[in-house]
Amino acid sequence: MNVSVIGTGYVGLVTGASFAFLGHRVCCYDVDLAKIEALQKSIIPFYEPYLEILVDEQVKKKQLFFSCSLDEFFAQSDIVFIAVGTPTDPQSGAVDMTYLKKAALEIGKNMQPHRYYVVVNKSTVPVGTHQLVEELIKESLQVSGTKDVAFAVASNPEFLREGNAIEDVFYPDRIVVGTYCPKALALLEELYRPLIEQSFTLPSFCPQRPQNLGRVPFVKVHPLSSELIKYASNAFLATKITFINEIANLCDLFGANIDEVSLGMGLDQRIGPSFLKAGLGWGGSCFGKDLKGLIHDGKKMGYAAELLQKSLQNNYSQRSRAIYKLQQALKTLRGRRIGLLGLAFKAQTDDLRDAPALDLIEKLMESDCTVKVFDPVAMENLKRLRPQWPLVYAIDEYDLAEGCDGLILVTEWKRFHGVDWQKIHSLMKNPLLIDGRNFLDRQRLEAFGFVYSGIGR
Ligand code: UDX
Repeated sequence: MNVSVIGTGYVGLVTGASFAFLGHRVCCYDVDLAKIEALQKSIIPFYEPYLEILVDEQVKKKQLFFSCSLDEFFAQSDIVFIAVGTPTDPQSGAVDMTYLKKAALEIGKNMQPHRYYVVVNKSTVPVGTHQLVEELIKESLQVSGTKDVAFAVASNPEFLREGNAIEDVFYPDRIVVGTYCPKALALLEELYRPLIEQSFTLPSFCPQRPQNLGRVPFVKVHPLSSELIKYASNAFLATKITFINEIANLCDLFGANIDEVSLGMGLDQRIGPSFLKAGLGWGGSCFGKDLKGLIHDGKKMGYAAELLQKSLQNNYSQRSRAIYKLQQALKTLRGRRIGLLGLAFKAQTDDLRDAPALDLIEKLMESDCTVKVFDPVAMENLKRLRPQWPLVYAIDEYDLAEGCDGLILVTEWKRFHGVDWQKIHSLMKNPLLIDGRNFLDRQRLEAFGFVYSGIGR
């Protein structure tokens, strides 16, 4: 099939590259010319394991193209994915639909007569957006006077995680599709067939298929339900983490160990083991944005989603646990030198959107600390994002530790396991280590002489 993807962010680019790999011809579009020119040379604007090599392979095979304007390829598309950003409007808390509306109008403007298109919303959008997209396309067709175009709109949310994008897209837990139109549904089922049947082999350097996956459920639902499934899934996952963080804070008081509590809880099949890792709270581009969007839209309909509001608030206060622990250990923070091990909102990404590290740095600076930072991939992003912050950028973990009164592990980068902790200990002024991700081996660190504090362990 010919597939067009509007928007080359995380979701758009991974979607485009994966459908190209599965044998479809794909063109990804973006209004950002510099980005498109870079992508044509297989330069990816963010860090995501395996993606660059996958894109490069498909570009060379002429299965994957990039363009700035909806061209001839677009006109011949069978399926058009909308994967543009839907950020939070900082003033109102509503979802900013500017890019999505523009994309829908642009799609309508460029549709050709005597063709059938399935327009699929992959962006995370407020419930009811499929109707808006349909109206905007119709409006655009009227303006351009294009006749005899048939199209259907579908909702098909994406559940990929940054840092695990390839694994999540090729081995999904489910594929959700919401549409009224049987023809659109049939085309989408056909498009997704290799993923549903798992009838493909990824190159050996990519993550391999989990053993017990089987056939992937293709969930056909009403478009309104499909849109809500995405919001509800993210709200649930975010709240599950916030829940376990609260239990971790109680563990600190009771002297219990949160790793053991999570293990014991997670073995109950009704609870499940994932997303029970306590720490400094979640970050990233989705959870906060989607919780806010859902709360805002509920309010518009006259409903106060109090659990979700509390879940959001508690996540932000959780970030201060590290500051509280520093304060308990050091008494005063003024004039202290504190090092942050990791900046990204999680490992395997350079993404700093809503990253707990940003809040921590601000709070430490407000307390008159000197802040040193180190992250294997996210430091350039921080320099670009907050050029005015007077931070000390360390070249590695040892440079970071030098002269520090305390270290906070903020991101669970695997390489932090492999550092010479004895050397780190000898370089620090005061060997205090706050493990904000419960990632390191407490006993080992204490044997080196560290004063170790995790979150609930
Ligand atoms: C999330 C959803 O998982 C994904 O389905 C959706 O499409 C986009 O939003 P992502 O934000 O990329 O994905 O990362 P995820 O792995 O879900 O982690 C989100 C945050 O939760 C990170 O800050 C992570 O450190 C934190 N987290 C995750 C925990 O604190 N504890 C956990 O047990 C799991």
